[in-house]
Amino acid sequence: MKKSISINQKINSLKKKNIFVEGDKSLSIRFILLSSLSKGRCVAKNLLKSEDVISSINCIKKLGIKIRLEKSYCEVFGKGLNGYKYKRNIILNAGNSGTTARLLCATLIDAKHNIKITGDKSLRKRDMSRIINPLLKFGVRFKSTNKRLPLFIKGPKLLKPISYNENLGSAQCKSAVMIAALKTQGKTKLKCLPSRNHTEIMFKKVLKIPIKIQKLKNYELIKIDGLKEFNSFNYNIPGDISSAAFFIVLTLLSKNSFLTIKKVNINPSRTGVIKILNKMGAQIKYFNKKNYKGEIIADIFIKSETNLKSINLDPKFNSSAIDEFLLIFLVASKCEGVSTFKNLSELNKKESERLNWGIKILKMMGIKVIRIKNDGIKIWGQKNLQLNKKYIIKNFLKDHRVFMVSTIAALTLGGDWKIHDPDSYKTSFPSFLKILKNLGAKIK
Ligand code: S3P
Repeated sequence: MKKSISINQKINSLKKKNIFVEGDKSLSIRFILLSSLSKGRCVAKNLLKSEDVISSINCIKKLGIKIRLEKSYCEVFGKGLNGYKYKRNIILNAGNSGTTARLLCATLIDAKHNIKITGDKSLRKRDMSRIINPLLKFGVRFKSTNKRLPLFIKGPKLLKPISYNENLGSAQCKSAVMIAALKTQGKTKLKCLPSRNHTEIMFKKVLKIPIKIQKLKNYELIKIDGLKEFNSFNYNIPGDISSAAFFIVLTLLSKNSFLTIKKVNINPSRTGVIKILNKMGAQIKYFNKKNYKGEIIADIFIKSETNLKSINLDPKFNSSAIDEFLLIFLVASKCEGVSTFKNLSELNKKESERLNWGIKILKMMGIKVIRIKNDGIKIWGQKNLQLNKKYIIKNFLKDHRVFMVSTIAALTLGGDWKIHDPDSYKTSFPSFLKILKNLGAKIK
């Protein structure tokens, strides 16, 4: 197998005007998990067929749920809220997927005996306490070392509804509590900081579960009455803005280019990257906006911009751009002036330590960047930044976003790049390199 990809040529003006990116990862994983708890046959179109979603499918199949993944659709035959078959000695492997591992634990809170959940090297390093703590309150029992995978989960005789404060701004934690609430008789109350709201939208608009959501000043209060079965459903998964973001930045930093990315989910809890880049001088626009079962779908138009300016980012934007910060740092490195980002401790808890990787890549590129207090960084941008040295990116725990951001840096800023772990992008975006090549990128 190839050890790395090589890029030593910038991309010229993009060869195509329109592209599609693959289905949203958050929605694809939620479709698999929630359809497995529904009563009947659910069908998804445009499901993302990336390694993370395949991990979800394989875990759910091991629980006795039939799933058929065809070329143009995916069928899941749900058996209701208590329909899982808990065979002894099954091992559920979530691979690289934090969302699968964390949301799956919530679907297992009625396990009759210990069920083992594990993951790859990166996932085994990640802290599971954000879901273990609330699930313990439901009465669930865990066995683990340092609240990390592999862990064993077993349900109690009687699950109890809980009141919980989610104060990390983590959609995975919020969603785990919501899914656990589904399997528990009584009213669960969840006070949470803002984070992506796909689970709430799916509960309300797709599963038709009567949840109550109250917006308070900085928090939301969600109330769910559990043990209400829901019917099967169909779902067309829109494009993933976190994948689109790589092409947004590619276009923004390339000369004389413009691009439309079709049918992307622009749910406001995910569009931080667009708002931030527009504040930095980009002119990203939406066309053909439509509401689809509570999510908003649009075509995103972007063109090159040479007059980008630095930003002092208000941390209120952090949660809606949480997976895009490596790209935002890259844009900041090509801006006039000094940019500041704060309260980014969550970034170091992702598939790799992404705040550290952002700093490392920028320093490698010769950009002045320092850590500041409150998990922040300051970046001294260079408007005319052009790279001409050799750059090697390796040992990044196969973090798909580190791989993809390095590729975009190589294609827009120049230099001679070798990026290791050439398959890592398949975690979230299997067609990434193919789309780049169709746009004219030279990648060996
Ligand atoms: C996700 C939530 C985010 C995000 C992850 C996907 C989700 O994580 O980083 O890629 O689908 O709920 P947190 O919930 O930990 O912020």
